[in-house]
Amino acid sequence: MYTSFVVFLLVSAWMVAAKDIIITVGGNSSGDGTTTFQPQRVVAELGDNVIFNFTQGNHSAVESTFAQPCVPAHVANISLNGFDSGFHDITNGTPPAIQPVPILVQNVNQTMWFFDYNTCGEGGVGVINDNESSTETLAGFIRNAVKLNGTNTTDSSSSSASSASHSATTSAPAPTSSSNAADRALRVGVVGALPLFIASLFL
Ligand SMILES: *[C@@H]1O[C@H](CO)[C@@H](O)[C@H](O)[C@H]1NC(C)=O
Ligand SMILES: *[C@@H]1O[C@H](CO)[C@@H](O)[C@H](O)[C@H]1NC(C)=O
Ligand SMILES: *[C@@H]1O[C@H](CO)[C@@H](O)[C@H](O)[C@H]1NC(C)=O
Ligand SMILES: *[C@@H]1O[C@H](CO)[C@@H](O)[C@H](O)[C@H]1NC(C)=O
Ligand SMILES: *[C@@H]1O[C@H](CO)[C@@H](O)[C@H](O)[C@H]1NC(C)=O
Ligand SMILES: *[C@@H]1O[C@H](CO)[C@@H](O)[C@H](O)[C@H]1NC(C)=O
Ligand SMILES: *[C@@H]1O[C@H](CO)[C@@H](O)[C@H](O)[C@H]1NC(C)=O
Ligand SMILES: *[C@@H]1O[C@H](CO)[C@@H](O)[C@H](O)[C@H]1NC(C)=O
Repeated sequence: MYTSFVVFLLVSAWMVAAKDIIITVGGNSSGDGTTTFQPQRVVAELGDNVIFNFTQGNHSAVESTFAQPCVPAHVANISLNGFDSGFHDITNGTPPAIQPVPILVQNVNQTMWFFDYNTCGEGGVGVINDNESSTETLAGFIRNAVKLNGTNTTDSSSSSASSASHSATTSAPAPTSSSNAADRALRVGVVGALPLFIASLFL
């Protein structure tokens, strides 16, 4: 009786702590590539759900690696299975699309770099759970992206990246009317998103 009450409290505490962290994709149509993902850097803990919210333009959110920012992780390294939203083309009248990335036991505290196919070379990249005290920073990742995939032929080492966004957005989202699988997973919460995420690991 007492034990199950303690377990109940622990589970409740975990559920209360779990939060949705929204990354808005394409929300700033007048900005450059570095505004594709807002914020570009988020911190997420076990049980949290990082949600890419595609609101404007034709974009994607694809996991990559620090060394090759604009190449999908599984292409850069066959033993990696990163997330890949595919393209979402949002025009006026199209409802926003959602790609959830749940933080599970197997990816907690793991640095997950990601990019958008269409703006990567202009800095359309971001990261979940990086270590800004290490040599692999968001600013360095943006420099890599511009250097390897940018159209600017001159040295772009001066590209100053903002990593000011250390705090994650925590507002709880309302479900959208979109009926894609990812959105359905979002509606049933993290638990519902687990099979989707795990299934995507084996695609
Ligand atoms: C969009 O990006 C531009 C350039 O980075 C910036 O000046 C502007 O404030 C941004 N607008 C919004 C609404 O974030
Ligand atoms: C979105 O961008 C990709 C890559 O540039 C392109 O292949 C695709 O056709 C675009 N989608 C739409 C609907 O325009
Ligand atoms: C590929 O990923 C695996 C698993 O993370 C890692 O052990 C290995 O070192 C990586 N290989 C290369 C060439 O980076
Ligand atoms: C993840 O990082 C947090 C904060 O540094 C730490 O408390 C926790 O033990 C870590 N979890 C794992 C599974 O390494
Ligand atoms: C970036 O450049 C690499 C190497 O040329 C290429 O394989 C990759 O497809 C490019 N990525 C994008 C998003 O264009
Ligand atoms: C971040 O990187 C620094 C420098 O490499 C290292 O000392 C520190 O332990 C790292 N922090 C975590 C949480 O891994
Ligand atoms: C190209 O890079 C140079 C040096 O970093 C910079 O001054 C210039 O503004 C860049 N041009 C474009 C179009 O991004
Ligand atoms: C995504 O962005 C749209 C437009 O700003 C907003 O209406 C919607 O609530 C957002 N969805 C989530 C899950 O944050």
